Order: sequence, then C-alpha cells, then structure tokens
Amino acid sequence: MNILGINAYHANASAAIVCDGKLVTAVEEERFNRVKYAAGFPANAVRHCLAEAGMTIQDIDHVAIPRDPWARMRTKLYYALQMPGFAWERAKVALRFSGMGDDLATACGVDPKSIGARYHRVEHHVAHLASTFFVSPFNEAAVLSADGLGDFASTMWATGRGNRMEIHGSISFPHSLGLYYTAMSQYLGFWSFGDEYKVMGLAAYGEPGYQDEFRRIVQSGNGNGSVGFRLGLKYFSHQRTGPEMTWRDNAKTPVLGRLFSPYLEQRLGRTRPTEEPVGQQHKDMAATLQAVLEEAYFGLLKPLQRATSQKAVCLAGGVAFNCVANGKILDHTPFTDVYVQPAAGDAGLAVGAAYYVYHQILGQPRCFVMEHAYWGPQYTSAQIRKALNKGAVVTLGLKVNELREDELFRVTARHIADGKVLGWFQGRQEWGPRALGNRSILVDPRRAEMKDMLNKRIKHREPFRPFAPSILEESTAEYFEKSYPSPFMNLAYRVRPEKREIIPAPTHVDGTGRLQTVSRRSNPRYWSLIKEFEKLTGVPVLLNTSFNENEPIVLTPDEAIDCFLRTKMDVLVMGDYVVEKQTRE
Ligand SMILES: [Fe+2]
Repeated sequence: MNILGINAYHANASAAIVCDGKLVTAVEEERFNRVKYAAGFPANAVRHCLAEAGMTIQDIDHVAIPRDPWARMRTKLYYALQMPGFAWERAKVALRFSGMGDDLATACGVDPKSIGARYHRVEHHVAHLASTFFVSPFNEAAVLSADGLGDFASTMWATGRGNRMEIHGSISFPHSLGLYYTAMSQYLGFWSFGDEYKVMGLAAYGEPGYQDEFRRIVQSGNGNGSVGFRLGLKYFSHQRTGPEMTWRDNAKTPVLGRLFSPYLEQRLGRTRPTEEPVGQQHKDMAATLQAVLEEAYFGLLKPLQRATSQKAVCLAGGVAFNCVANGKILDHTPFTDVYVQPAAGDAGLAVGAAYYVYHQILGQPRCFVMEHAYWGPQYTSAQIRKALNKGAVVTLGLKVNELREDELFRVTARHIADGKVLGWFQGRQEWGPRALGNRSILVDPRRAEMKDMLNKRIKHREPFRPFAPSILEESTAEYFEKSYPSPFMNLAYRVRPEKREIIPAPTHVDGTGRLQTVSRRSNPRYWSLIKEFEKLTGVPVLLNTSFNENEPIVLTPDEAIDCFLRTKMDVLVMGDYVVEKQTRE
C-alpha cells in the first residue's frame, strides 16, 4: 500500500511516501527550488519521492493532505464576521486545495483523471501529532502539538497507543504559544519568517527581569490543573485583524504581518527598529520571553502527564523546535522519555498525514521507527565525480583526491584539527531544518575563534547565535550534564563546567549546547569521522553547522561545489573525494 503525503500551499511545503508502513523518502520543496521555507505546491518534492520509490503517480493508493477546511467551522465563521479581509484570504487558500488534483497531475505530467488514488484530509494538528507519535519508538505516549496556527488552532494533545491516537483537547485561535513567540520576536526587531530561532539564542545573554509583565502577556495553565494557557489579548492584534500572511519571491516566501498591539509598546517601550543595535533591555526581554514560554510549555506538559499517566511524550509543531525548553522537559516534568521528530514543523505534516491515513484510517499496525533523519535525495559517486570534473574546480586547477574510507576519515579529521573550515557532503540529505552530518560544515570545536571565523567567512550570522556540537552518543555523559539521546539536534543541555574550556566554539554563552548525539548505527560514516577526530585530539566532538551560506541547505554536488567556491571554505569532502583550496583570511 503506497501513500503520498503532501504539505502544500503552506510554508515548508514538502512531500513524503510511505510504502506498507515504511517511510521511503521525505523532502522539503525548498531544497529543490532554493527558496527558504517555500510554500506553493511541492512539485519537485513529489516528483523526487515518486522517483526514489520507483513509482508513478498511478501506483499511489492514497494521497494524504494535512489540512481540513471544515475543522472548527463555528470559530472560523465567528471570526470571519469580524475579520472579513482575513477570512477572504483564508478562503482563497482553501480554494487552492480544491485544485490540488490538477496541480498533482501537472507535476507528474499526467491527466488528472488518470490518478486513481483516494484523497484524505487530515486536520493540521492531528497530522502534527501523527508525525511524531507514529514514527516514535514508543508503543504508548502522551502527544502534544504546540504551534503557531493551523486549521485555526494552535495546540492539541492526545494519548497514542499502538496504531491509534485519542485526541483529548485543543486550543483554538487566537490563543497560541507560537504566535506569542513570533509577536515578541517582532517587537524585539526580528521580523523575518523563522527569526524566532535567533531570539532563542539571544535569550542566553539576558536576565529574565520582565516576568510580571510577560506573565500577563501569556498566562500559563488553566487555573484548574487541566491542560491550557491563555494570551493576554490586549497585547496582540491578530485576534482583530488575523495573522496577515503575505508572500514574496514569486509568492513562495511567507511574510507574517505585525502581531502585537500598540498596548505592548505602551507597556514595554517602543519596538526595536531592525537597523538599531540590540541593547541589554532587548536581551533581558528575550530571556523573559523564553522563561515565560518554558513556564507555559511545562504548564501544558505537566497536566498532560497527569491526565494520561504516560512516561513518554512525543512533540511536534513549531514550538517543539525550542530546543532550550525541550532540553529541560526531563527535569521539569514527570516524563522520562521524549521524542521530537526532525521535521517537527510544518514540513513534517507530509509524513504525519501519510501515517495518520495508514494507521488511524486504514487500521494498519505499527512497523516503523524514525531513528535517523536521512530521508532526502542522494547522489552516486559517479555523479559526484562528474560534478567535480567540470567548471571552476577544473579551471581553478583544484586538486581532487579520491581516498579509501579509512584514509578519508584520517585526512578529514586532520584538516579539521588543523583549523580548516570543511564542507562535508555524504549520502542522503537530512529531513528537517538541521544538518546532521550529511550536508554539514565542520570545524574544530576546541578553537574558540572558530565561531567568529565561520561567521566572517561563510555564515554572516548575528554574533549572538550559537553553533552546535555533534558528539559521539557514547561520550554524551562525559561532556554534558544529561545523556538522553538527542539525535536530531532538538534538545539543548548544559555542557559540564570542566568541559566548557575544551569545546568553547559550540558552547553557548550560558554554558549550553544544542547537541546532536551521533550513533554508529544511524550514521556510521559521520560517527567514524568524529571517532577519528577523537583519536587525534582526545575530543569526541565536532562543531556542525548546515552546509549553506544564506539559502536552503545545499542539495546537489553542484550546489555544494558552488558554495565551497564562493565562500572561504578550505576543504570540501564529497563522498570519497577531497578537494582543497588555498584560503586567505
Ligand atoms: Fe503547524
């Protein structure tokens, strides 16, 4: 039985194919069309998924779509009367879904009538819940979707048992932890889609001194011990105007309108214009924003644990990318196990909708655990060689060496230990926003200057944003205060005080690291490289950042070579090939 999941006409458009319960491939459209967070119909992603599975669209039995236009119709109608402009915009998006069969047929170059698959609509948060529970290692778990907004709700929770989920409750528009974080990020001068990540990094530089005010902005819990929270709506504007979403880059990149009200500025002072420097008060507000988010997050999780009596929790939705909060779950709640799927945001909906159809609708048993994130496209050694045998690599006369595997690890580890900035391109691309050792830029974590050097040479990020460590899974407890596996870089732990001087480059200012624990089983090649680095230096850690400049993560060998040549990267390792250049500061 073949199921195609499609997240379309929504940020982070993506596609995935599940065959007889096993995930075959999953990929975001942005990797193909090179537009970050791309929306629209994921035609390239769909075509890739079918090719990877060795199928045509006629082989697909079910198409799973993570959107239900009929969900919460009463709430939608109530707000439609108050916000006709917003309602009209949403109606236009909903209309696009009715043409999805045509878009799918066009993407596949077939007549729409030739597609025999059954279409299923899965509500947004139900798909988020399914995206994490049904691929988790747990037979039973509490499940939480904590998000911005989807199908007019922000939050949903459930108990998962075997191949079923029982939904217990949800929180509808306008109350949303995701919109709270976005609104406050905007107020602090961070307006781009996805900027919440920057503010989470900034929070480590401040003290949470504004808690009284922020606890009025978001009120944790329900007051009666049940799962819930509320926003102080006078601080927000989206409940009056709707969260305005506009699009740029040929209608592909989402731009979210202002979410906070003038009252917020009356209470906290004027918003920071983006071009003005970040002051200590902004850092303190970012710290408060994060602290109060954590209160509200644990205010959901603790009653959820009480209500479900489960030991494990599975998380999805945009808020589940908050690795700082996730890293505290095992300390601040009674849960003893936690799983966050690598594409916890809306890209993951393609996987979630497909698994919901497979298990909950079709009643099929569980048979798959997502233990790694390597579900994207891959390229053969011949394709890599071909890319290296043309263009600037040849005209610049760069030397290309093909090495045996053991030699490759040794040479690569030596380059990193020598302070080189190294592009590492291997195997299948990562699913989700984090580079996890297949499309990564790697440097020596022992060199404190590497953070600035990476920013100066390649990344050009704000200086307050941290870089992340990859560590051999078996060495986690030696370097971090917790050792619960974090294979997808979505938990942050405190680095042991005595180790902070040893790995200063990926240790954040507050002593934490957003770590990736690397197991030999999930990525033998990356594990072997880190092991080789440990043999050389005694340190089982590499600093790992995504292989890109200011764009989606590189997908193809050509894109990796382009990025290598236009930036001041020193070495590129693709498959078994090593390319070096002389780089000057
Ligand atoms: Fe979502």
